Amino acid sequence: MTEKKDDKMEKIVSLCKRRGFVFQGSDIYGGLRGTWDYGPLGVALNKNIKREWWKMFVDDREDMYGLDAAIIMNSKVWEASGHTGAGFADPMVEDLETKERFRADHLLKDNDIDAEGMSLEEIDALIAEKGIKSPKGNDLSQARQFNLMFESRIGATAGDEGKVYLRPETAQGIFVNFKNVLDSMSPKMPFGIAQVGKAFRNEIAPREFLFRVREFEQMEIEYFVKESEWEVEFEKLRLDIVAWNKHLGLSDENVREFEVPENDLAHYSKRTIDFEYNYPGKGFDELAGFAYRTDHDLKNHMEASGTTMEYIEPDGSRFIPHVLEPSFGLGRALTAVLCEAYTEDEMNGEVRTYLKLPVHLAPYRVAVSPLLKNKPQLVEKAREVFSVLKKEYGNVAWDDNGNVGKRYRRQDEIGTPYCVVIDFDTLGEENPDTKDTVTIRHRDTGEQERVSISDLIEKLK
Ligand code: GLY
Repeated sequence: MTEKKDDKMEKIVSLCKRRGFVFQGSDIYGGLRGTWDYGPLGVALNKNIKREWWKMFVDDREDMYGLDAAIIMNSKVWEASGHTGAGFADPMVEDLETKERFRADHLLKDNDIDAEGMSLEEIDALIAEKGIKSPKGNDLSQARQFNLMFESRIGATAGDEGKVYLRPETAQGIFVNFKNVLDSMSPKMPFGIAQVGKAFRNEIAPREFLFRVREFEQMEIEYFVKESEWEVEFEKLRLDIVAWNKHLGLSDENVREFEVPENDLAHYSKRTIDFEYNYPGKGFDELAGFAYRTDHDLKNHMEASGTTMEYIEPDGSRFIPHVLEPSFGLGRALTAVLCEAYTEDEMNGEVRTYLKLPVHLAPYRVAVSPLLKNKPQLVEKAREVFSVLKKEYGNVAWDDNGNVGKRYRRQDEIGTPYCVVIDFDTLGEENPDTKDTVTIRHRDTGEQERVSISDLIEKLK
């Protein structure tokens, strides 16, 4: 995957900063690579995505249980899961002059060589044979494996004893609590445990906006099944993921499923489908993963911890469940949603930018304005309408900056589906028929309609 510039993507990144969706992490200190901060509207959009996800995958189902495990876990978890080994490392080379580090597989890919599944020796041989240099034109070191987990130290313990890792996936928090959930909730097979939370990966080359970052949020499910039923359940969950992508507003032509080839599977997986999104300027790349993890994790934790991970059927038969894992990156979902929503059209002879966000995802459902902010009667009435809508929906904006045309532009750019304007007709001083009616202006068409305040809540549903 080479870094490509695209007009649309650059415009989205710029809109994100300008309008308070996403800022560079530690911005005033020149940033910190691979970290991003979500501003007020980014938080709102993320919250909506997470709420909808939780509703669809947990609250609306009988077979899902929630969990919120600690980010820092006993290091034995990562030994048992295999993450401390080569399976969770990327091949890295160093520029011998500048000491900058690069993903060896990325440098090979820039030379049209797919390094998936290659040993370090094979990578070194190809770099030598093709005369591949660092992007600065300097010689490269030999490749070595670089583990992607962030290390830290717990308490005052010295040496390796206090070594801990920031979790690189939320999944393991679920596996190590499998027994706790069994004992406390007595779930019937098949069932899933869902978790939303931060994960961390010390990427050698963070890049492409929110796509490859060092700190990110995941929405994951581990779905426990009988081995003999994994294929049937895989298909059911696959369709649920398809439905989720639609719920995000992503169009069919921009989403595709990619069957990950065997030599490219993660160390724990026997089958994986990547759901890919057609990111502008980049093309199709991962949006979400769906892996059959077999009994790899539960079996390893059972062996390493000595705690049984067996499920006991009502007839007394016991088995270690197999696992299906739908895994979603929140930042990637947000990026795809923004890419899909970003639209330019022409309105009143001018180019207009707007985010065609689904109503259930938009940071604000509606903005309320008095036509003029220096007319107390208009402001008072608008405040009344604002309070009623805010009580009903919560995510309602008050916007009285600039003239009404500028407000529409601003709300269009952040994807607010409706603007409600209180004007002199609302006061009904000239024509009693228009008293207590307001204008609703629709984002996508720019059309306006007059509705009575008492019908407003119903109309905006
Ligand atoms: N749990 C799968 C992943 O983090 O990619």
